[in-house]
Amino acid sequence: MDYLKYNLKQGYRKINAFYELNNHLMTFGLDIYWRKKASTTISKLLSKENNYNKKIVYCDFCIGTGEFFELMFNKLTEIQYDKKSIFIGLDFSYEMIARAKKKKVFSNHNVSLILADVGFLPLKNNSVDFITISLGIRNLRNPNDINHNNIFAHRFNEIYRVMKDGGYFFGLETSRPPNKIIRKISDFLTLYILTNIAKILSGDFDTYTYLAKSIIDFFEPDQFKNFLLSIGFKNVHYYLFTFGIVALHIAKK
Ligand SMILES: C[S@@+](CC[C@H](N)C(=O)[O-])C[C@H]1O[C@@H](n2cnc3c(N)ncnc32)[C@H](O)[C@@H]1O
Repeated sequence: MDYLKYNLKQGYRKINAFYELNNHLMTFGLDIYWRKKASTTISKLLSKENNYNKKIVYCDFCIGTGEFFELMFNKLTEIQYDKKSIFIGLDFSYEMIARAKKKKVFSNHNVSLILADVGFLPLKNNSVDFITISLGIRNLRNPNDINHNNIFAHRFNEIYRVMKDGGYFFGLETSRPPNKIIRKISDFLTLYILTNIAKILSGDFDTYTYLAKSIIDFFEPDQFKNFLLSIGFKNVHYYLFTFGIVALHIAKK
């Protein structure tokens, strides 16, 4: 398998049925905790802004099967934004979106799903208040060519374009633990143990080989912070969870 040329959309077509179960097994359930912690941290920050009754547009990109979107919808509803607020989930995989659609949250009339690539967003300039991406940022560096930082920057320019001035980007993503021993253990578990369990369960070796390598290959948190600053974001900072195995990145337009 050629890592840089791997077709990720096809990969998600193959693994969608086992996606949630594999995540829970591979992380010993920590992915559930990370999404909860991220959604709580985000909602605490937004509650402080005192924008009750404001009509917001919220988008979750790389929504996958909708686990994070559902948590965020519940948290944002608690903040009591205007009832006409708009909630959008977006993903380029039809199969993942089809799984998301089965979740209860999609029976709400102000919630919609869009099938699109983050690099070509069917959204107006300056139209979105908050954007989240949970565990999908790494995927945006996965192009079918070797200029992968160019594609990454192109996709983040799109994200920046559709955000309102003063809007927030929140990204939950795997990270590189700062402690070298913990990093070695976590790399070993990722590359040789946990990924093999997922491969056996899903029967898809290529996609999980790709996903594991993309964890090891991803930015240090400060590198990603500098990348976001280079796109034009302000007030960029991050919180590390679980020894820095994942990070919640926060940035403002
Ligand atoms: C690792 S899953 C994350 C799903 C979910 N957010 C979660 O917390 O589990 C990544 C998702 O990103 C989607 N994706 C990857 N690249 C994309 C792109 N360029 N545009 C839109 N969606 C993309 C994949 O189809 C997949 O559903």
